[in-house]
Amino acid sequence: MKISVIGCGYLGAVHAACMAELGHEVVGIDVDEAKIASLSAGRAPFFEPGLSELVERALASGRLRFSTDLAQARGAAVHFVAVGTPQSHDSDSADLRYVDAAFEAIAEHLAPGDLVVGKSTVPVGTAERLAPGIEAAGARLAWNPEFLREGFAVQDTLAPDRLVYGVRHGDEGSVAALDAVYGAAIEAGTPRIVTDFATAELVKVAANAFLATKISFINAMAEVAEATGADVTQLADAIGYDARIGRRFLNAGVGFGGGCLPKDIRGFMARADELGVGEALEFLRDVDAINLRRRQRVVDLVADAVGGDLSGVRVAVLGLAFKPDSDDVRDSPALDVASRLRALGADVRATDPEAIETSRRVNPDLTFVVELDDAVRDADVVVLVTEWRRYRELTPDDLAPLVARRVIIDGRNVLDPQTWRAAGWNYRGLGRP
Ligand code: UGA
Repeated sequence: MKISVIGCGYLGAVHAACMAELGHEVVGIDVDEAKIASLSAGRAPFFEPGLSELVERALASGRLRFSTDLAQARGAAVHFVAVGTPQSHDSDSADLRYVDAAFEAIAEHLAPGDLVVGKSTVPVGTAERLAPGIEAAGARLAWNPEFLREGFAVQDTLAPDRLVYGVRHGDEGSVAALDAVYGAAIEAGTPRIVTDFATAELVKVAANAFLATKISFINAMAEVAEATGADVTQLADAIGYDARIGRRFLNAGVGFGGGCLPKDIRGFMARADELGVGEALEFLRDVDAINLRRRQRVVDLVADAVGGDLSGVRVAVLGLAFKPDSDDVRDSPALDVASRLRALGADVRATDPEAIETSRRVNPDLTFVVELDDAVRDADVVVLVTEWRRYRELTPDDLAPLVARRVIIDGRNVLDPQTWRAAGWNYRGLGRP
């Protein structure tokens, strides 16, 4: 099929490359010239495992091209809109300016019978509001939320665990077109839910709200564990064996961040308020608050370990990305912890395998070092806040010759306390003795 993808950020760039990989003829469009230049040269503009290789292969096949000119979308039968919906600067609501601009612009280039597919995460009611502009051009609208995880974006897009199509009642044409786009996944037996616009929009934010709630639930248990001497990691294992609960997303630690979970729960609450059902989502305020408290908890543990005063204390911060295998620092707990420590006077040396440049753009005042050894050399405290594999695999012997004092705060509960303590370290995790 001929496909256009409007917006080539995390979502759109991956979607465009994967659609080409599946055999479609794809044009990816973005207003950001640097991004388009990078993608056209076969380089992903951000770190995502496997994406550059995929883009390169798709470009070589002739099935993928990129452009800043929206007119290049003409001739495509399906137009995906994958632009960002960040949190507004002055409120908790989603900022829809990019979505609105993209829809207004694409309407100029549609041919009768085209299908426009919204992929961006939007407040419920957005598709209904945007549909008339598309339908006036004789085209149709569908909402098809995306569930990919950064770090696994390629595999999640090529082999999604479910497909959700929000369409007008009885719009078989749109369903058939989306089935043709996702033919490979459909043939592989991927569950597919055909529903209305509102449900499709809600599925997306409900999924992220549930995941955020699961993480904050276990972090709330960590707080209780800290007051009682219990071990939240064992608690998570034990409740996780109950198939109704499940062990995934029950890792207590410094909490969730990124470009999705935090802003999506806030946007969801703001939308519920507008709809007069704010009370229904009031619990998400606690989810957000519990999450933010964990960042301060890590800072407090560092302060405790040195007797309270952080001024001049050398702290090595391992990790800046909001999670491993990503260079994304949007709302990153790790970067936040590093910034808070610095604000309290600590002499912070922060490192990350991929996220130094992205961090520097947000917080140029922090001291970043590329090599792990340079970060931990002469450190009074080592803080692990993003669980990159290389940090998970650290041993006490790796660090002991470098540090000034053997103190490690494990903000992700990924190190073995016994091993570190046996080697003479003061080990502190979150919610574990
Ligand atoms: C999330 C969802 O998982 C995706 O399904 C969704 O498509 C995406 O948002 C989106 O809306 O675009 P992502 O932001 O890539 O994906 O990150 P997650 O893997 O969900 O992790 C979010 C945060 O939770 C990270 O900071 C991670 O460290 C933290 N986390 C995760 C925990 O603290 N504990 C856990 O047990 C799991």
